Amino acid sequence: MLDVNKIRADFPILSQKVNGKALVYFDNGATSQKPQVVIDAISKYYQEINANIHRGVHTLSQLATDAYEISRGKLQNHINAKFPHEVLFTSGTTHGINLVANGFASILKPGDEILVSAMEHHSNIVPWQMLCEKTGAILRVIPMNLNGELIMSEYDKLLSDKTKIVTVNHISNALGTVNPIKYMIDKAHEAGAAILIDGAQAVPHLKPDVQELNCDFYVFSGHKICGPTGVGILYGKEAWLNKLPPYQGGGEMIKEVTFEKTTYAELPHKFEAGTPNIAGGIVLGTAVDYMNQVGFDNIQQQELELLEYGTKRLLEIEGLKIFGTAAAKTSVISFNIEGIHPYDIGTIIDKLGIAVRTGHHCAQPIMDFFKIPGTIRASFAFYNTTEEIDVMVEAIKKAKVMLS
Ligand code: ALA
Repeated sequence: MLDVNKIRADFPILSQKVNGKALVYFDNGATSQKPQVVIDAISKYYQEINANIHRGVHTLSQLATDAYEISRGKLQNHINAKFPHEVLFTSGTTHGINLVANGFASILKPGDEILVSAMEHHSNIVPWQMLCEKTGAILRVIPMNLNGELIMSEYDKLLSDKTKIVTVNHISNALGTVNPIKYMIDKAHEAGAAILIDGAQAVPHLKPDVQELNCDFYVFSGHKICGPTGVGILYGKEAWLNKLPPYQGGGEMIKEVTFEKTTYAELPHKFEAGTPNIAGGIVLGTAVDYMNQVGFDNIQQQELELLEYGTKRLLEIEGLKIFGTAAAKTSVISFNIEGIHPYDIGTIIDKLGIAVRTGHHCAQPIMDFFKIPGTIRASFAFYNTTEEIDVMVEAIKKAKVMLS
Protein backbone atom coordinates (compact mmCIF):
# COMPACT_ATOMS: atom_id res chain seq x y z
CA MET A 1 0.00 0.00 0.00
CA LEU A 2 1.18 3.48 -0.87
CA ASP A 3 1.69 5.94 1.98
CA VAL A 4 0.31 8.88 0.00
CA ASN A 5 1.13 11.48 2.66
CA LYS A 6 4.75 10.36 2.62
CA ILE A 7 4.79 10.49 -1.17
CA ARG A 8 3.23 13.98 -1.20
CA ALA A 9 6.05 15.24 1.01
CA ASP A 10 8.41 14.45 -1.90
CA PHE A 11 6.67 17.08 -4.07
CA PRO A 12 7.25 20.62 -2.74
CA ILE A 13 4.69 22.21 -5.08
CA LEU A 14 1.85 20.15 -3.60
CA SER A 15 2.02 22.01 -0.30
CA GLN A 16 1.64 25.40 -2.00
CA LYS A 17 -1.41 27.56 -1.93
CA VAL A 18 -2.89 28.77 -5.21
CA ASN A 19 -5.29 31.69 -5.11
CA GLY A 20 -5.14 31.44 -1.34
CA LYS A 21 -6.35 27.81 -1.33
CA ALA A 22 -4.51 24.53 -0.94
CA LEU A 23 -3.50 23.39 -4.43
CA VAL A 24 -5.47 20.46 -5.83
CA TYR A 25 -3.49 19.44 -8.89
CA PHE A 26 -5.60 17.35 -11.28
CA ASP A 27 -3.84 18.26 -14.52
CA ASN A 28 -1.41 15.36 -14.52
CA GLY A 29 -2.37 14.43 -18.09
CA ALA A 30 -0.77 17.72 -19.17
CA THR A 31 2.31 17.35 -17.00
CA SER A 32 3.24 15.67 -13.74
CA GLN A 33 4.67 17.47 -10.74
CA LYS A 34 8.33 16.90 -9.84
CA PRO A 35 9.73 15.29 -6.69
CA GLN A 36 12.56 17.02 -4.81
CA VAL A 37 15.02 14.36 -5.95
CA VAL A 38 14.42 15.41 -9.58
CA ILE A 39 14.62 19.12 -8.80
CA ASP A 40 17.89 18.53 -6.93
CA ALA A 41 19.35 16.41 -9.72
CA ILE A 42 18.88 19.30 -12.19
CA SER A 43 20.86 21.75 -10.07
CA LYS A 44 23.45 19.09 -9.16
CA TYR A 45 24.14 18.56 -12.87
CA TYR A 46 24.68 22.28 -13.47
CA GLN A 47 26.63 22.75 -10.26
CA GLU A 48 28.96 19.78 -10.67
CA ILE A 49 29.34 18.28 -14.14
CA ASN A 50 27.91 20.66 -16.75
CA ALA A 51 29.80 20.11 -20.03
CA ASN A 52 29.01 19.07 -23.58
CA ILE A 53 28.81 15.33 -24.18
CA HIS A 54 30.47 12.92 -26.64
CA ARG A 55 32.88 15.68 -27.62
CA GLY A 56 35.58 16.39 -25.09
CA VAL A 57 38.45 14.44 -23.58
CA HIS A 58 38.31 16.63 -20.51
CA THR A 59 37.03 15.25 -17.22
CA LEU A 60 33.73 17.13 -17.03
CA SER A 61 32.81 16.13 -20.56
CA GLN A 62 33.53 12.50 -19.68
CA LEU A 63 31.46 12.72 -16.50
CA ALA A 64 28.52 14.30 -18.31
CA THR A 65 28.76 11.77 -21.16
CA ASP A 66 28.82 8.87 -18.68
CA ALA A 67 25.84 10.24 -16.78
CA TYR A 68 23.88 10.70 -20.04
CA GLU A 69 24.63 7.18 -21.25
CA ILE A 70 23.90 5.68 -17.82
CA SER A 71 20.52 7.36 -18.02
CA ARG A 72 19.93 5.90 -21.50
CA GLY A 73 20.64 2.50 -19.97
CA LYS A 74 18.09 3.13 -17.21
CA LEU A 75 15.49 3.99 -19.83
CA GLN A 76 16.44 0.88 -21.80
CA ASN A 77 15.88 -1.27 -18.71
CA HIS A 78 12.69 0.55 -17.86
CA ILE A 79 11.02 -0.30 -21.19
CA ASN A 80 12.98 -3.53 -21.68
CA ALA A 81 14.53 -2.54 -25.02
CA LYS A 82 17.00 -5.07 -26.39
CA PHE A 83 19.81 -2.55 -27.00
CA PRO A 84 20.65 0.90 -25.56
CA HIS A 85 21.00 2.28 -29.11
CA GLU A 86 17.31 1.52 -29.70
CA VAL A 87 16.54 4.22 -27.12
CA LEU A 88 16.83 7.70 -28.62
CA PHE A 89 16.62 10.90 -26.63
CA THR A 90 14.17 13.37 -28.16
CA SER A 91 12.61 16.59 -26.96
CA GLY A 92 9.35 14.74 -26.29
CA THR A 93 6.58 12.66 -27.83
CA THR A 94 5.87 15.15 -30.63
CA HIS A 95 9.52 15.10 -31.70
CA GLY A 96 9.57 11.28 -31.67
CA ILE A 97 6.47 10.99 -33.86
CA ASN A 98 7.73 13.62 -36.31
CA LEU A 99 11.06 11.84 -36.55
CA VAL A 100 9.40 8.57 -37.55
CA ALA A 101 6.86 10.22 -39.88
CA ASN A 102 9.65 12.12 -41.59
CA GLY A 103 11.63 8.89 -42.04
CA PHE A 104 8.67 7.19 -43.68
CA ALA A 105 8.74 9.82 -46.45
CA SER A 106 11.52 7.77 -48.02
CA ILE A 107 9.44 4.57 -47.82
CA LEU A 108 5.89 5.51 -48.81
CA LYS A 109 4.52 5.61 -52.36
CA PRO A 110 1.32 7.27 -53.59
CA GLY A 111 -1.69 5.13 -52.60
CA ASP A 112 0.03 3.54 -49.57
CA GLU A 113 -2.06 3.80 -46.42
CA ILE A 114 -1.42 5.03 -42.90
CA LEU A 115 -3.90 4.06 -40.17
CA VAL A 116 -4.47 6.40 -37.24
CA SER A 117 -7.14 6.03 -34.61
CA ALA A 118 -10.14 8.28 -34.03
CA MET A 119 -8.85 9.16 -30.56
CA GLU A 120 -5.41 10.54 -31.35
CA HIS A 121 -3.82 13.67 -29.97
CA HIS A 122 -3.08 16.21 -32.73
CA SER A 123 0.60 15.28 -32.43
CA ASN A 124 -0.26 11.83 -33.72
CA ILE A 125 -2.44 13.12 -36.56
CA VAL A 126 -0.80 16.18 -38.08
CA PRO A 127 2.70 14.70 -38.76
CA TRP A 128 1.01 11.85 -40.68
CA GLN A 129 -1.17 14.28 -42.64
CA MET A 130 1.97 16.21 -43.56
CA LEU A 131 3.55 12.92 -44.64
CA CYS A 132 0.51 12.14 -46.82
CA GLU A 133 0.82 15.56 -48.49
CA LYS A 134 4.48 14.87 -49.20
CA THR A 135 4.12 11.30 -50.47
CA GLY A 136 0.59 10.87 -51.83
CA ALA A 137 -0.16 8.30 -49.12
CA ILE A 138 -3.70 8.10 -47.71
CA LEU A 139 -4.71 8.53 -44.08
CA ARG A 140 -7.40 6.13 -42.84
CA VAL A 141 -9.08 6.37 -39.45
CA ILE A 142 -9.88 3.48 -37.09
CA PRO A 143 -13.30 4.43 -35.67
CA MET A 144 -14.46 4.32 -32.05
CA ASN A 145 -17.76 3.68 -30.32
CA LEU A 146 -19.68 5.94 -27.94
CA ASN A 147 -17.83 4.54 -24.92
CA GLY A 148 -14.59 5.79 -26.49
CA GLU A 149 -13.31 2.33 -27.45
CA LEU A 150 -11.68 1.59 -30.79
CA ILE A 151 -13.73 -0.85 -32.87
CA MET A 152 -11.42 -3.76 -33.54
CA SER A 153 -13.62 -5.36 -36.22
CA GLU A 154 -13.28 -2.10 -38.22
CA TYR A 155 -9.53 -2.06 -37.60
CA ASP A 156 -9.28 -5.58 -38.99
CA LYS A 157 -11.17 -4.48 -42.10
CA LEU A 158 -9.00 -1.40 -42.65
CA LEU A 159 -5.75 -3.36 -42.57
CA SER A 160 -4.53 -4.48 -46.00
CA ASP A 161 -1.36 -4.88 -47.98
CA LYS A 162 -1.60 -1.12 -48.67
CA THR A 163 -1.17 -0.37 -44.95
CA LYS A 164 2.41 0.65 -44.32
CA ILE A 165 2.18 2.00 -40.79
CA VAL A 166 -0.40 2.03 -37.98
CA THR A 167 -0.10 4.71 -35.33
CA VAL A 168 -2.17 4.66 -32.16
CA ASN A 169 -2.00 5.86 -28.60
CA HIS A 170 -1.60 3.36 -25.79
CA ILE A 171 -3.91 5.47 -23.62
CA SER A 172 -6.11 8.35 -24.80
CA ASN A 173 -5.26 11.72 -23.23
CA ALA A 174 -8.82 12.99 -23.56
CA LEU A 175 -10.82 9.86 -22.65
CA GLY A 176 -8.48 7.71 -20.56
CA THR A 177 -9.19 4.64 -22.71
CA VAL A 178 -6.51 1.94 -22.58
CA ASN A 179 -6.28 0.63 -26.14
CA PRO A 180 -5.76 -3.08 -26.97
CA ILE A 181 -2.34 -2.40 -28.38
CA LYS A 182 -0.99 -5.94 -28.21
CA TYR A 183 -3.82 -7.10 -30.48
CA MET A 184 -3.26 -4.10 -32.75
CA ILE A 185 0.49 -4.70 -32.96
CA ASP A 186 0.04 -8.36 -33.87
CA LYS A 187 -2.59 -7.55 -36.49
CA ALA A 188 -0.49 -4.77 -38.03
CA HIS A 189 2.42 -7.17 -38.37
CA GLU A 190 0.21 -9.86 -39.92
CA ALA A 191 -0.70 -7.27 -42.56
CA GLY A 192 2.99 -6.47 -43.08
CA ALA A 193 2.71 -2.98 -41.56
CA ALA A 194 4.88 -1.24 -38.99
CA ILE A 195 3.25 0.15 -35.85
CA LEU A 196 4.04 3.14 -33.66
CA ILE A 197 2.62 3.43 -30.15
CA ASP A 198 2.19 6.88 -28.62
CA GLY A 199 2.85 6.06 -24.99
CA ALA A 200 2.75 9.64 -23.67
CA GLN A 201 -0.29 9.01 -21.48
CA ALA A 202 0.56 5.41 -20.66
CA VAL A 203 4.02 5.70 -19.11
CA PRO A 204 2.79 7.61 -16.03
CA HIS A 205 0.61 4.60 -15.19
CA LEU A 206 2.47 1.52 -16.40
CA LYS A 207 5.82 0.16 -17.46
CA PRO A 208 5.72 -0.82 -21.14
CA ASP A 209 7.73 -3.87 -22.19
CA VAL A 210 8.60 -3.10 -25.79
CA GLN A 211 9.98 -6.57 -26.51
CA GLU A 212 6.89 -8.30 -25.19
CA LEU A 213 4.65 -5.85 -27.04
CA ASN A 214 6.81 -6.30 -30.15
CA CYS A 215 5.97 -2.76 -31.33
CA ASP A 216 8.24 -1.13 -33.91
CA PHE A 217 8.24 2.29 -32.25
CA TYR A 218 7.16 3.49 -28.81
CA VAL A 219 7.33 7.21 -27.94
CA PHE A 220 6.84 9.17 -24.75
CA SER A 221 7.74 12.36 -22.89
CA GLY A 222 9.76 12.70 -19.72
CA HIS A 223 7.71 15.45 -18.13
CA LYS A 224 4.67 13.23 -17.63
CA ILE A 225 6.69 10.79 -15.49
CA CYS A 226 8.07 13.24 -12.94
CA GLY A 227 10.94 14.29 -15.22
CA PRO A 228 11.77 17.68 -16.69
CA THR A 229 10.15 19.16 -19.80
CA GLY A 230 12.00 19.13 -23.12
CA VAL A 231 13.15 15.53 -23.03
CA GLY A 232 11.53 12.32 -24.20
CA ILE A 233 12.23 8.91 -25.64
CA LEU A 234 11.75 7.31 -29.01
CA TYR A 235 12.21 3.56 -28.87
CA GLY A 236 12.67 2.00 -32.29
CA LYS A 237 13.62 -1.53 -33.26
CA GLU A 238 17.23 -1.57 -34.43
CA ALA A 239 16.29 -2.73 -37.94
CA TRP A 240 13.81 0.14 -38.36
CA LEU A 241 16.19 2.77 -37.00
CA ASN A 242 18.86 1.55 -39.40
CA LYS A 243 16.40 1.71 -42.27
CA LEU A 244 15.09 5.23 -41.60
CA PRO A 245 17.18 8.19 -42.82
CA PRO A 246 18.38 10.77 -40.27
CA TYR A 247 15.84 13.38 -39.27
CA GLN A 248 18.17 16.32 -38.73
CA GLY A 249 21.67 16.94 -39.98
CA GLY A 250 24.37 18.45 -37.81
CA GLY A 251 27.14 17.78 -35.36
CA GLU A 252 27.48 14.38 -33.66
CA MET A 253 25.22 12.53 -36.14
CA ILE A 254 28.01 12.05 -38.69
CA LYS A 255 30.89 9.66 -39.23
CA GLU A 256 32.71 11.81 -41.79
CA VAL A 257 31.89 15.06 -43.54
CA THR A 258 33.40 16.40 -46.76
CA PHE A 259 31.77 18.80 -49.19
CA GLU A 260 31.33 15.90 -51.58
CA LYS A 261 29.75 13.38 -49.22
CA THR A 262 28.77 12.83 -45.60
CA THR A 263 28.44 9.45 -43.90
CA TYR A 264 26.27 9.06 -40.85
CA ALA A 265 27.12 7.93 -37.35
CA GLU A 266 25.91 4.65 -35.88
CA LEU A 267 22.79 4.44 -33.73
CA PRO A 268 21.75 6.20 -31.57
CA HIS A 269 23.88 9.19 -32.66
CA LYS A 270 22.50 9.15 -36.21
CA PHE A 271 19.27 10.59 -34.78
CA GLU A 272 20.78 12.83 -32.11
CA ALA A 273 22.16 15.82 -34.01
CA GLY A 274 23.33 18.87 -32.10
CA THR A 275 23.80 19.43 -28.41
CA PRO A 276 20.90 17.62 -26.74
CA ASN A 277 19.04 18.45 -23.55
CA ILE A 278 21.86 16.97 -21.46
CA ALA A 279 20.51 17.82 -18.03
CA GLY A 280 17.04 16.64 -19.12
CA GLY A 281 18.37 13.33 -20.39
CA ILE A 282 20.33 12.66 -17.22
CA VAL A 283 17.52 13.68 -14.90
CA LEU A 284 14.97 11.59 -16.80
CA GLY A 285 16.92 8.62 -15.42
CA THR A 286 16.48 10.02 -11.91
CA ALA A 287 12.73 10.41 -12.53
CA VAL A 288 12.41 6.83 -13.75
CA ASP A 289 14.31 5.61 -10.68
CA TYR A 290 11.88 7.56 -8.52
CA MET A 291 8.79 6.12 -10.25
CA ASN A 292 10.18 2.60 -9.93
CA GLN A 293 10.91 3.17 -6.28
CA VAL A 294 7.28 4.17 -5.73
CA GLY A 295 6.42 1.06 -7.72
CA PHE A 296 4.00 0.72 -10.63
CA ASP A 297 1.81 -1.77 -8.74
CA ASN A 298 1.35 0.84 -6.02
CA ILE A 299 0.79 3.59 -8.58
CA GLN A 300 -1.90 1.57 -10.34
CA GLN A 301 -3.65 0.62 -7.12
CA GLN A 302 -3.82 4.24 -5.94
CA GLU A 303 -4.94 5.54 -9.34
CA LEU A 304 -7.64 2.91 -9.72
CA GLU A 305 -9.06 3.93 -6.36
CA LEU A 306 -9.03 7.57 -7.47
CA LEU A 307 -10.71 6.70 -10.78
CA GLU A 308 -13.48 4.71 -9.09
CA TYR A 309 -14.03 7.21 -6.31
CA GLY A 310 -13.85 10.21 -8.66
CA THR A 311 -16.31 8.66 -11.11
CA LYS A 312 -18.79 7.87 -8.34
CA ARG A 313 -18.55 11.32 -6.72
CA LEU A 314 -18.75 13.26 -9.98
CA LEU A 315 -21.80 11.32 -11.15
CA GLU A 316 -23.63 12.57 -8.02
CA ILE A 317 -23.71 16.00 -9.69
CA GLU A 318 -26.94 16.46 -11.62
CA GLY A 319 -26.46 17.04 -15.36
CA LEU A 320 -22.87 15.79 -15.35
CA LYS A 321 -21.88 13.52 -18.20
CA ILE A 322 -18.62 11.60 -18.50
CA PHE A 323 -17.03 11.19 -21.94
CA GLY A 324 -14.91 8.06 -22.10
CA THR A 325 -16.56 5.12 -20.38
CA ALA A 326 -14.40 2.34 -21.79
CA ALA A 327 -14.13 -0.92 -19.86
CA ALA A 328 -10.34 -0.48 -19.80
CA LYS A 329 -9.63 2.99 -18.46
CA THR A 330 -6.98 4.86 -16.57
CA SER A 331 -7.30 7.69 -14.03
CA VAL A 332 -8.62 10.34 -16.41
CA ILE A 333 -12.18 11.67 -16.16
CA SER A 334 -13.44 13.95 -18.93
CA PHE A 335 -16.84 15.45 -18.29
CA ASN A 336 -19.29 18.25 -18.98
CA ILE A 337 -22.19 19.72 -17.10
CA GLU A 338 -25.34 20.29 -19.08
CA GLY A 339 -25.77 23.89 -20.20
CA ILE A 340 -22.41 25.09 -18.86
CA HIS A 341 -19.26 25.74 -20.90
CA PRO A 342 -16.21 23.77 -19.64
CA TYR A 343 -14.07 26.95 -19.53
CA ASP A 344 -16.47 28.57 -17.09
CA ILE A 345 -16.22 25.68 -14.64
CA GLY A 346 -12.42 25.54 -15.08
CA THR A 347 -12.05 29.25 -14.42
CA ILE A 348 -14.20 29.24 -11.28
CA ILE A 349 -12.63 26.17 -9.71
CA ASP A 350 -9.16 27.57 -10.43
CA LYS A 351 -10.07 30.41 -8.07
CA LEU A 352 -10.61 27.68 -5.48
CA GLY A 353 -7.12 26.27 -6.04
CA ILE A 354 -8.09 23.41 -8.34
CA ALA A 355 -6.14 22.77 -11.54
CA VAL A 356 -7.94 20.84 -14.28
CA ARG A 357 -7.62 21.10 -18.04
CA THR A 358 -10.53 22.43 -20.06
CA GLY A 359 -11.01 22.51 -23.83
CA HIS A 360 -10.42 20.07 -26.64
CA HIS A 361 -7.22 18.62 -25.13
CA CYS A 362 -5.45 18.77 -28.53
CA ALA A 363 -7.88 16.12 -29.73
CA GLN A 364 -10.48 18.04 -31.74
CA PRO A 365 -11.69 14.99 -33.71
CA ILE A 366 -12.79 13.41 -30.41
CA MET A 367 -14.79 16.52 -29.53
CA ASP A 368 -16.34 16.54 -33.03
CA PHE A 369 -17.28 12.87 -32.59
CA PHE A 370 -19.15 13.65 -29.36
CA LYS A 371 -20.44 16.97 -30.83
CA ILE A 372 -19.10 19.03 -27.93
CA PRO A 373 -16.76 22.05 -27.82
CA GLY A 374 -14.56 20.48 -25.18
CA THR A 375 -14.59 18.90 -21.75
CA ILE A 376 -13.35 19.44 -18.23
CA ARG A 377 -10.61 16.87 -17.63
CA ALA A 378 -9.49 15.74 -14.19
CA SER A 379 -6.43 13.54 -14.54
CA PHE A 380 -5.16 11.94 -11.33
CA ALA A 381 -1.67 10.85 -10.32
CA PHE A 382 -0.49 8.52 -7.56
CA TYR A 383 0.12 11.53 -5.26
CA ASN A 384 -3.54 12.60 -5.39
CA THR A 385 -6.09 11.72 -2.72
CA THR A 386 -9.79 11.03 -2.43
CA GLU A 387 -10.01 14.07 -0.11
CA GLU A 388 -8.85 16.23 -3.02
CA ILE A 389 -11.61 14.73 -5.15
CA ASP A 390 -14.11 15.77 -2.47
CA VAL A 391 -12.74 19.33 -2.64
CA MET A 392 -13.16 19.34 -6.44
CA VAL A 393 -16.71 17.97 -6.29
CA GLU A 394 -17.77 20.63 -3.77
CA ALA A 395 -16.12 23.34 -5.91
CA ILE A 396 -17.93 22.15 -9.03
CA LYS A 397 -21.24 22.18 -7.15
CA LYS A 398 -20.56 25.80 -6.12
CA ALA A 399 -19.57 26.78 -9.66
CA LYS A 400 -22.71 25.13 -10.99
CA VAL A 401 -24.92 27.20 -8.67
CA MET A 402 -23.10 30.38 -9.72
CA LEU A 403 -23.43 29.59 -13.42
CA SER A 404 -27.02 28.28 -13.49
N1 ALA B 1 -0.95 16.19 -24.23
C1 ALA B 1 -1.08 16.86 -22.96
C2 ALA B 1 -2.48 16.82 -22.44
O1 ALA B 1 -3.23 15.96 -22.78
C3 ALA B 1 -0.50 18.22 -22.99
O2 ALA B 1 -2.85 17.67 -21.66
